[in-house]
Amino acid sequence: MAQHDADRVADWNDQSGERWAAHQARLDAMLAVFGQAAIEAAAPATGERVLDIGCGAGASSLDLAARVGAEGHVLGVDISEPLIGRARALAPQDTPVLFQVADASSAELPEGAFDILFSRFGVMFFDDPTGAFAHMRRALRPGGRVVFVCWRGMAENDWVRLPMGAIKGIVPPLAPPDPEAPGPFSFGDRERVARILTLAGFTDIAITPFDASVPFGKGATRDAAIDDAVETTLEVGPLSRVLADQPDDIRARASAAVRAAFAGRPGERLVMIDGATWIVMARNPAS
Ligand SMILES: C[S@@+](CC[C@H](N)C(=O)[O-])C[C@H]1O[C@@H](n2cnc3c(N)ncnc32)[C@H](O)[C@@H]1O
Repeated sequence: MAQHDADRVADWNDQSGERWAAHQARLDAMLAVFGQAAIEAAAPATGERVLDIGCGAGASSLDLAARVGAEGHVLGVDISEPLIGRARALAPQDTPVLFQVADASSAELPEGAFDILFSRFGVMFFDDPTGAFAHMRRALRPGGRVVFVCWRGMAENDWVRLPMGAIKGIVPPLAPPDPEAPGPFSFGDRERVARILTLAGFTDIAITPFDASVPFGKGATRDAAIDDAVETTLEVGPLSRVLADQPDDIRARASAAVRAAFAGRPGERLVMIDGATWIVMARNPAS
């Protein structure tokens, strides 16, 4: 395993995984509509077998299981032990779903065993995405489909655009991120996604924008909802890493600026933000 991959596995098993698990309910509320859009696109039928890649705490796996029913099967894989632990704890007993700790880019997967490869925001973290998709394609039956939802650019997504804009001038400027480096926005460029899937052997590639206004903070009052949005931002995602090494006074100023940014968004006991994604579909050639 390359060092970068090893670091990321360690991170999803440590801080990122623990924080994601702690914020799972609010992240699920934010991501649900995007996951549902991808599931509608995948149109899982009764009896189908689905691999949910980077399934995290398993919300999409459970939704998929409800669609394929008892004759079908869902395998949720994720490299994060804390998140798979959470997924197992949340899954009702008689659901046709199994969860497994595994690196989807290299784990041994049964050949041709799935009708659908699915992911809700779990495929943007591979060091070698083409190699990973070529590997995962082998688990798909001939003619099977891959369907996933991923973020478009950072500039179109309020959960990062608003806080990152707010901290400009408070935190020293960052080197511009490599847009292709593994991370939430590494699939923002539609041409790149199409290239990765083509090189990995997929055909019939369709990449469609899907936008939605989603709840990011939630609380008993408007103020509590804004505090909730700020807390999530400071603990999960890119801003948490930017602020991790900053002194307390900078963190406090950044937090106040982020709060003001979220206070400008609509919602009563919620903070509604705009999210921009791609719904990506492609097919494994029939033979
Ligand atoms: C942004 S989270 C999304 C989690 C979940 N799909 C959801 O929508 O709630 C990304 C997930 O991908 C997982 N992940 C990252 N790299 C992975 C890999 N190589 N194999 C399997 N899972 C991976 C992480 O552990 C994390 O749970």
